[in-house]
Amino acid sequence: MELLFVGDVHGRWDEADTAFVEAGSQRIVVFVGDLADEDASFVRRIATLTCEKVVILGNHDAWRAMRGGSGRGLRASLDLLGDDHLAWRARSLGGGVTLIGARPFSWGGEIGNHAWFYREHFGVNGIAGSADRIMKAVAGAPATDVLIGVAHNGPSGLGEGPDAIYGRDFRPPYEDFGDDDLRLALDRLRTAGRSVPLVVAGHMHDRLKGGSGVRRRTAIDGKTLHVNAAVVPRHRATNGGRESHYVRVVIEGGALLEAEDLWVDASGEVTDRCSLIPGGGADPLR
Ligand SMILES: [Fe+2]
Ligand SMILES: [Fe+2]
Repeated sequence: MELLFVGDVHGRWDEADTAFVEAGSQRIVVFVGDLADEDASFVRRIATLTCEKVVILGNHDAWRAMRGGSGRGLRASLDLLGDDHLAWRARSLGGGVTLIGARPFSWGGEIGNHAWFYREHFGVNGIAGSADRIMKAVAGAPATDVLIGVAHNGPSGLGEGPDAIYGRDFRPPYEDFGDDDLRLALDRLRTAGRSVPLVVAGHMHDRLKGGSGVRRRTAIDGKTLHVNAAVVPRHRATNGGRESHYVRVVIEGGALLEAEDLWVDASGEVTDRCSLIPGGGADPLR
């Protein structure tokens, strides 16, 4: 089973991207958010893709609503996506694999300033309430399925420092900026013996602020590979054209077989690929 993940889009989605995913052999396309800045007309372009897809919206997708704006763009975006918004939801893919969505709209770090937003729009109370909602989504998934976590920002517990996979780089302190609710849920899943071979998120962009280097985009935590898909911008210029970034994953028999960065040109040809599995080999986690 092949899955395509799209990191923070930030407005970089064109006709060639649409053609690529509509013609693709993937089981599903998974967007990890920051499509644009609360722009429902842009969200519509993703929501109307005819291939199977899910989205977990990012902090930019509630850019005004989270700062006390009317919330009109946010509500329109949520209406457009409907059940394809994976927040606190499960999407069973068959073949023993279920996607589990974590908390959308994360800014990273403490939830404090935004607790009102989650209460008001989703009836979710803080970190503990969100972790409970993630577990509720899991409860709706087949008990023997392996789970793939999907979030806008990844979990805490994967390292500190500006270049850590979800480390804060925009100003000191350069601490762990991961989400504590997703961490809580993953720990509970581990205790319960559930298999989570992969968690994919974005939000913390690959190029560090101030031009001080690049982020480590993978981490291994027990038997889970974490991938930060946020290569931003996801379009890069080439001689006379552009290439688009995707993360491609292959799961077989409940095991992660491949995870790689993919660069695709405007005609849909793969021009570059690079393994995201440490060591480059298959099946590193079993
Ligand atoms: Fe982003
Ligand atoms: Fe973000």
